[in-house]
Amino acid sequence: MAVTLDDSPANIERLAQALLEDRLVAVPTETVYGLAGRALSPTACARIFEAKDRPAHDPLIVHVSDLAMLDRVAERQPEVETLAKAFWPGPLTLILKRRPTVPSLVTSGLDTVAVRISAHPALQRLIAKADCPLAVPSANPFGYISPTTSEHVAAQLGDRIEFILEGGSCTIGLESTILDLVNGSQPRILRPGAVTEEQIRAALNRPVSGFSPVPSDRMIVAPGLLDRHYSPTTPLKLRSGAFTAEEIMGLPVDVAALCIRKPGDSRTNTFWLSEDGDPSEVGRKLFSMLRKLDAAGFASIEVEPMTNDENLGRAINDRLRRAAGRGNQED
Ligand code: TXA
Ligand code: MG
Repeated sequence: MAVTLDDSPANIERLAQALLEDRLVAVPTETVYGLAGRALSPTACARIFEAKDRPAHDPLIVHVSDLAMLDRVAERQPEVETLAKAFWPGPLTLILKRRPTVPSLVTSGLDTVAVRISAHPALQRLIAKADCPLAVPSANPFGYISPTTSEHVAAQLGDRIEFILEGGSCTIGLESTILDLVNGSQPRILRPGAVTEEQIRAALNRPVSGFSPVPSDRMIVAPGLLDRHYSPTTPLKLRSGAFTAEEIMGLPVDVAALCIRKPGDSRTNTFWLSEDGDPSEVGRKLFSMLRKLDAAGFASIEVEPMTNDENLGRAINDRLRRAAGRGNQED
């Protein structure tokens, strides 16, 4: 069973040493918990794929501590510095041209690599101590909901990994925004997250292709865009609009009603993500709520979308569509 360690200097030292020996450590980030291994080691990366049951065609995100470390794994184009100033450390992942030193396992054979600098202080200290880039996919079995606490990681990967670094509940709770910068004149959002299209456009002062429905045969270009991803085991239905009061009260008792904000009337099968529908709170709580409902024995879950599909609402609705197994497809 994995041991969970706090971020004392002695523990950071011990975990950095484990990473340098190609062992795996689950780590906190501000988005979701990740499973870290030394990015430049094919052995460590193979262990990551194995622990997650992840198919080899789904590449890993490489975490670095600063731009100097980024230069070890990717080619730095002019936009990187601008975006780094605006959003790093933070929930933005950039797709850049890879350096030949990056094992092809990390990039699933692509000539690009995904790179991010996380804002979580414990992870920052760990990367700085190990002084090497880390491959860090979300610390869930492939296809399941991403973990936002160390307990989520222990529950699902505890018997497959040795160490979990405790870092509290993730403050954002949704995976990072992924921006494809390889064609610098036409940056493209591959996965919506807390850093929004509008913010990126403002920082770069140029058009950005927003996130749009992409058929699943584009998997190799943007492998995260699998139709079914981030899913609970209990069947989940995403409604086309908000629940009415009558609908909430009329649902069978073995069907959970998951609301964005607290409804006027509720029953034992009624749940909500935020008293007042605050998008940051909804994002932070979404994955732990889906886990809780998944474990509660309901026959199915019905969830309403965020009515405002802008900014964080876009990322939340994207995760809800995926959890419902509908990927990016329109209703
Ligand atoms: O917030 C996050 O990004 C979290 C934390 C732990 O950093 N990580 C995360 O990793 O969500 P993961 O592996 O669950 O999702 C990474 C996504 C995958 O969908 C993968 O296909 C995509 O990034 N990706 C990685 N490298 C890529 C590349 N070179 N081109 C296009 N997509 C890439
Ligand atoms: Mg993931």
